Amino acid sequence: MIKIAPSILSADFAAMGKAVAMLKEQGADWVHFDVMDGNFVPNITFGPGMCKAIRAYTDLPIDVHLMVEHPSDWIEPFKNAGADVLTIHVESSERHLHRALQAIHAAGMKAGVVLNPATPICTCTHLLADCDLVLLMSVNPGFGGQSFIPETLSKIRALRAEIDARGLSTLIEIDGGVNPETAKQCIEAGADILVAGSAVFKANNPADMIRSLRG
Ligand code: DX5
Ligand code: ZN
Repeated sequence: MIKIAPSILSADFAAMGKAVAMLKEQGADWVHFDVMDGNFVPNITFGPGMCKAIRAYTDLPIDVHLMVEHPSDWIEPFKNAGADVLTIHVESSERHLHRALQAIHAAGMKAGVVLNPATPICTCTHLLADCDLVLLMSVNPGFGGQSFIPETLSKIRALRAEIDARGLSTLIEIDGGVNPETAKQCIEAGADILVAGSAVFKANNPADMIRSLRG
């Protein structure tokens, strides 16, 4: 069953509690939480304080996507803020990704790595058994509302084949430019979780949009 994770990057920042509170009845599975530090990506969003604030408005899992340098510094703060899933970029300044994944697990959260569009899947092959999920970026990280990069589909297929061949249960999450048309392509290619920011929050009817993203 495909999971839909609306990204609150596209929600109204001045009404975040209300936006998050509505997601469960709108049919969302996870809340996607984009952390940007102005260094790893050319934008700044929010951090553990916002995570703690929205925790009070939902019991859906909070899926924290760390687009930051030194991501390991943020494991404890996000655990304490009520995060459930933490993903770190393989391109970040973290030199010891395997150790970082273990630290995320030791803190009681699901752990995963994120690959930018230009990063080949071989960068996570030896980490797959330690990843609950791998997030493949289907846009360059930093902003919502960009167009889906079609080459992502072949990456999904290759990663799906690798995971299945090894009998692993690692989930494949896709982030960026997901709309009903690209969602269908991602699902056919083997994705398990779809992040959608502007598609959900700019929709006239977010519940209908979430339904159509499931295909
Ligand atoms: C981009 C973020 C995404 C973003 C997706 O750096 O990681 O999660 O919110 O936005 P859409 O769905 O509008 O492409
Ligand atoms: Zn994201």
